[in-house]
Amino acid sequence: MIKAEITKDLRIALSEYPRRLEHVYGVRDTALKLGKRYNLDLDILEITALLHDITKYYSKEDNKALIDSYFPDSEFIYKEYNDNILHAFSGYIVAKTKYKIKNGEILNSILNHTVGRPNMSMYEKVIFISDYIEPNRTYDSCVKVRKLVDKSLDLAVFTAIDDSIQFYEARKGKIPLIAFKARHYYRNLLEGQND
Ligand SMILES: [Fe+2]
Ligand SMILES: [Fe+2]
Repeated sequence: MIKAEITKDLRIALSEYPRRLEHVYGVRDTALKLGKRYNLDLDILEITALLHDITKYYSKEDNKALIDSYFPDSEFIYKEYNDNILHAFSGYIVAKTKYKIKNGEILNSILNHTVGRPNMSMYEKVIFISDYIEPNRTYDSCVKVRKLVDKSLDLAVFTAIDDSIQFYEARKGKIPLIAFKARHYYRNLLEGQND
């Protein structure tokens, strides 16, 4: 049973980081709640939630070694993305290689859980937003986005992306181009211009 195997590995991988483990379970519970609302496959969501941060505490070197071995354009990844986001790429690789995950919804949802992308699937959106609003998160934007989810998932996604961009802009952080593209996409979608 893949979920039991992942849960066991997760407890070991995050044994020194109990709050991160709580976060992962919070993402799982939130994703399952939203998944029921939108009639999604709950197994897919649970596996994705359990795996999404499995490489969160890999060293920068380990992340890079894994990414170099898998993505031909790894230099582009390092140029575009800040180090905190590399775990999305290595998590995707671990899901594919160690756990033999073939389901595209699981893989894409892990890969895009930090920054999002334009035109995300329902699974990608649910994981992205669950990561943002799970009950252990307390920052202002999260509280705001949590209230929006019941109104409109796309509005919640747009607001999370927009707030994240503004947060990193204020701190002169590295913001990948895909974040701006995603914000543009969801802004147009909400204004009815993406037909
Ligand atoms: Fe993450
Ligand atoms: Fe996370």
